[in-house]
Amino acid sequence: MRKFESLHNQMVIGGVTAKELAERFGTPLYVTDEIAVRENFKRIQQAFSCHMPANIHYACKANSNLAILRILEREGSCIDAVSIWEVESCLMAGFKPNKILFTGVSVSDEEMKALVGRGVTINIDSPSQLIRLSKIGTDIPISVRVNPDVGAGHHEHVVTGSKMAKFGIPKGEVVRIYSEALGLGLRPVGLHAHIGAGVQDVAPFVQVTEVLVSIARELETSLGLVLEFLDIGGGIGIPYRPEDKEMDVGLLAREVTSLIKSGCSARSVAVEPGRYIVADTTVLLTKVVDVKETPDRRFVGVDAGFNTLIRPSFYGSYHHVAVANKFGMPGEITYDVVGPICESGDFLARDRMLPRVAEGDIVAVYDAGAYGFTMSSQYNSRPRCAEVLVKDGNASIIRDRESLDDILRHQRMPSRLMV
Ligand code: LLP
Repeated sequence: MRKFESLHNQMVIGGVTAKELAERFGTPLYVTDEIAVRENFKRIQQAFSCHMPANIHYACKANSNLAILRILEREGSCIDAVSIWEVESCLMAGFKPNKILFTGVSVSDEEMKALVGRGVTINIDSPSQLIRLSKIGTDIPISVRVNPDVGAGHHEHVVTGSKMAKFGIPKGEVVRIYSEALGLGLRPVGLHAHIGAGVQDVAPFVQVTEVLVSIARELETSLGLVLEFLDIGGGIGIPYRPEDKEMDVGLLAREVTSLIKSGCSARSVAVEPGRYIVADTTVLLTKVVDVKETPDRRFVGVDAGFNTLIRPSFYGSYHHVAVANKFGMPGEITYDVVGPICESGDFLARDRMLPRVAEGDIVAVYDAGAYGFTMSSQYNSRPRCAEVLVKDGNASIIRDRESLDDILRHQRMPSRLMV
């Protein structure tokens, strides 16, 4: 968990107090610290590239704001994209097509045609997708997503590498798929696996690397095919709770790269972190609008609910919270922090010891930079909130708050209902 400065009990983010940001831009508000994004990227890039050529493919599903993409493009990142629209956003942010690996599931022919038109590398998820792609064109750079039968993650919904998951091609079939791809005139350049998200140990990454290396070796011996990259996917966890340990990325990089270097001739390693790069760079600021005490519970009612940050409700995820304008003051009372959505499952935090909270206070929800804004919705007809980027005491808006117009703009009233 990132440590924030405190100035007379005011939380400071990128040189600006949370109070100032909330007053100037309104709430709810996602606030991202630019320096933190850059630091996280550099740390993981250096960890891997000091051992062998390495490409960090930022998984932009975590946070696809154009400003964040641009920062990472300037840092030298590559991209893991999952839809043509993510690809288009990344191109718009300045990424070159050869830096983008598209890893989709249930990919339609229309989407593949558009991807081929854009010149990105396509990661094949099924035998049918391979055949369908070959009818669209030849000499297209591809990799193959193997289902490694190694799965891990913070919740069953995010385990992707197990046999029962819908992703990838079973490991026993992968060599045949490469041989077919060559026969079809496609250009295999890599091999990919992704075990899941929010993985806190190095061990499953070692296991998946062993699977990738053994397939790569077989491709070399049986097809004479030397791959440009082995991609171990993303999923590196972060410490959401104060007592959680940080993943040892140095150890992870050492173990993974030494297996690759000693086991096959693949030229580089690729890694696809989303959460690791952006999660702890961002806090969600939300205003206390209603404090309610019942004989059984104490509720802090705030203006952000699962429409703004769905992770607590959807996965039961823990996000640390603090009262930003009483920062560093001792906890006194145990509260549930709940939102404005009309469902009992709408909460941001439960059973948290906080300083006595009053209406008008600002609650900061930590580690909201990954799968925060990107999973937000207009449920209950609430406009999506704004996003701000802070650096050296300056704050810039990077996404406007939506309005009623944004909620209504795509709706149409059939004329027969107008009478
Ligand atoms: N690569 C692939 C192929 C992926 O499917 C994902 C995430 C990643 C990389 C990046 O994973 P990360 O490093 O961010 O954990 N909404 C969930 C997470 C879903 C992740 C889906 N795939 C959450 O809020 O925890």
